[in-house]
Amino acid sequence: MRSEQAKPVKLSEYRVADHVVKTVHLDIVLHPTATRVTAVLAVEPHPQGIAGAPLVFDGDGLTLAAIAIDGRTPAPEAYEATADRLVIHNPPAGPFRLTLETVVDPQANTQLMGLYRSSGTWCTQCEAEGFRRITYFPDRPDVLAVYTTRIEAEKKAAPVLLGNGNLVEAGDLPHGRHYAVWHDPHPKPSYLFALVGGDLAEVSDTFTTRSGRVVKLGIFVEHGKEDRCAYAMDALKRSMRWDEEAFGCEYDLDVFNIVAVSDFNMGAMENKGLNIFNDKYVLALPDTATDQDYAAIEAIIAHEYFHNWTGNRITCRDWFQLCLKEGLTVFRDQEFSGDMRSRAVKRIADVRLLKSHQFAEDAGPLSHPVRPEIYHEINNFYTATVYEKGAEIIRALKVLIGAEAFRRGMDLYLVRHDGDAATVEDFIACFAEASGRDLTQFFLWYRQSGTPQVAVATRHDPVAGTFTVDLKQTHLPTPGQDVKQPMVLPLAFGLIGPDGAERPLFTEDGKAVPGVIALDAAQKSVTFSGHPTRPVLSINRGFSAPIVLKTDLTAADLGFLARHDGDAYNRWQAIQTLATDHLVAASRKGAALAGGVDILADALAAVLADAGRDPAFAAQALTLPSESDIARELGAEVDPDAIHAARRALRLAIRSRLDGTLSDALSRFATPGPYSPDAAAAGRRALCNVALDLWASGGEADRLATVAARHRDADNMTDRFAALAVLAQHPGADREAALEAFRERYRADALILDKWLALQAAIPEAATLDRVKALLADPAFAMTNPNRLRALVGSFASGNQTQFNRPDGAGYAFLAEVVIATDPRNPQVAARLLSAFRSWRGLEAGRRTLARAALERVAATATLSADVRDIVARSLG
Ligand code: ARG
Ligand code: ZN
Repeated sequence: MRSEQAKPVKLSEYRVADHVVKTVHLDIVLHPTATRVTAVLAVEPHPQGIAGAPLVFDGDGLTLAAIAIDGRTPAPEAYEATADRLVIHNPPAGPFRLTLETVVDPQANTQLMGLYRSSGTWCTQCEAEGFRRITYFPDRPDVLAVYTTRIEAEKKAAPVLLGNGNLVEAGDLPHGRHYAVWHDPHPKPSYLFALVGGDLAEVSDTFTTRSGRVVKLGIFVEHGKEDRCAYAMDALKRSMRWDEEAFGCEYDLDVFNIVAVSDFNMGAMENKGLNIFNDKYVLALPDTATDQDYAAIEAIIAHEYFHNWTGNRITCRDWFQLCLKEGLTVFRDQEFSGDMRSRAVKRIADVRLLKSHQFAEDAGPLSHPVRPEIYHEINNFYTATVYEKGAEIIRALKVLIGAEAFRRGMDLYLVRHDGDAATVEDFIACFAEASGRDLTQFFLWYRQSGTPQVAVATRHDPVAGTFTVDLKQTHLPTPGQDVKQPMVLPLAFGLIGPDGAERPLFTEDGKAVPGVIALDAAQKSVTFSGHPTRPVLSINRGFSAPIVLKTDLTAADLGFLARHDGDAYNRWQAIQTLATDHLVAASRKGAALAGGVDILADALAAVLADAGRDPAFAAQALTLPSESDIARELGAEVDPDAIHAARRALRLAIRSRLDGTLSDALSRFATPGPYSPDAAAAGRRALCNVALDLWASGGEADRLATVAARHRDADNMTDRFAALAVLAQHPGADREAALEAFRERYRADALILDKWLALQAAIPEAATLDRVKALLADPAFAMTNPNRLRALVGSFASGNQTQFNRPDGAGYAFLAEVVIATDPRNPQVAARLLSAFRSWRGLEAGRRTLARAALERVAATATLSADVRDIVARSLG
């Protein structure tokens, strides 16, 4: 573990490494507890480094077994090797060869960083700072080297040996051993290094790139899971083709391998030519995976593949630039999924995720800029802000400068910085050049944290025929940023006439204007002419800027937009706003006093009547804002029980108005034929399943019996699980029987049992905490596996607003205990779980006091990791 009070890292203190490494030859002899690593490094002083500086390499938990400089063992006083550092006091002034030997224990590596074992397979995770747990190295992304890796192992234990790049040699050795040599010709930072050794099954295929390179594709999984890889393989091939067509990016090696492992801290990792995945994002069959799982697999396979250009060919200068590869690559995977599926529905799903994760993060103590300027622990910055807001900024840039200039900027970036370790400034400069615009103000998106707030008011003058839009932006203080500057917010918009038709846009002096307002000052007014009757403003179309928007649109206007807006995103947003306005008012003062239900129900009825056009869209419209969405809207004095009651009451009110239509939808949108994961079929299932949930929301016995029958008779996991989720909302023997039967049916399938764990953890009842505690002892659960922990404890803390926030504080105390217990084993996962407290300051006083006490208990723990210490300190700070 790292030293505890380590100094923070600051962007302003960046300087080049004094010594860089040009080539790396690794010889790794795999052993469960004593893997020997010999590294032969071509080292040279950096021309811009400090001449004569000592050589300082990073380590983490290492012991040095041997060292040689140009083949000679240095005197003991010439160097110093501790667990976390190697210093050579007077290294040679010119290039030299450094040989290092370390021995590491993969079996004991429970942090899942560096070289570890997952179900007997040796695998690695090096981003961000895991390579230093394998050998001493300048473990920073701006040191790029060419790697050759020889891996040796007992053939029976590890018949499969994989490395980065292309296989150049392999063969048998005496005593049942064998080896493989992999060479990656593309210089890369150490965080992209990977190796895998194990007894795995391979599913293979090929892809021919546009210039005719035949690439051998392999997906490696546990034996017996080969039949679950077809969708991931198909998604990979579609990603490779799409990246050529949409971004001109062609693959650059002869092999592309993906390995699925069951113990993984995050989603997946883009190691050059050897992506390593959480198996959750690879394995799928109709009976094991839901439509959502299929969509996530498609997106993450694409994401990691797209990193080959945005991340690997062009990497980051330092970790402050993380959004350079992550925000951009999320943007690219979102665009890919948008092209593969319904674009509007994909956009809605992405914005939902952005608001629930990123807006919540940005409104609390963990708020940070997309490009932070200081960190204590970089692993805590793989956040919704860096990823999702990072992607939004790029989308906003595209709206601001237009699609053509955006494409030219991208092309320029990919050519100019190929092979570089770049900065966000480098990236934005390409778009400034391509568009001929000054993007200085735009850059504030990377530097200012918090979500910009925009207030919109409109004025209509029927006599002059003018319509004026008054815009005002404000910025709330966030940690370390009390005062902020106005930013440039690209607001796509339109004006809709009383007949529902889009009105042409003219200024007062009759000039045609484009459908984007760039709000670049604290306040701005825009007047349009030619409107003898009042049009309705549709603004921030497609969620063109990631802002909190408050308009003066009336409930009637919103109902009108829900029907007539040409922008599908804003049709959905209008409905969400109606529901949110009602739920916020009802959470404050009770449902009876909150209005707007009839307009909302009418809008939903219209959506259902028209649902044949895009069932997936209708499903999104019928899905009310979540309890945490309402909590975020309230912002302060949040009472999760009041929110829950308000939401439940609204669901019942909507149901009573739409009842017949809901049951009709169940038959109207039934999917004919065998299961297919395609977007159209998934959309029909999604609509049926939200309709089912609403239809049964009263918990009537006969309706629940229908749900139970659908659960039993389903021929796919999507419908089976959706029905189970409805049953789970209604206490009783039938629910327990269904849960038990599900468990029995999938007893051997950990990924499916994760769904079972998560579902139970989310039940909004007082008995849930005891249920969750009991499940900790269930054989389906394992404290050591990140997926199990996230499924049970993560779902409880982040997905169960009323029970995590129990008024007696027992939910907080439970999370604190789990975090404290997990931290010594896996700090990254512990820190991630702890961030469920990110909105604690917005709670009403009683809960706030209890949440603070739980955080203080964590803070008072003697031996915290840097990861948890950082989260707890910022949460309390
Ligand atoms: N680069 C990986 C991805 O996008 C994430 C790896 C993060 N890992 C970590 N330990 N912080 O998808
Ligand atoms: Zn990524």
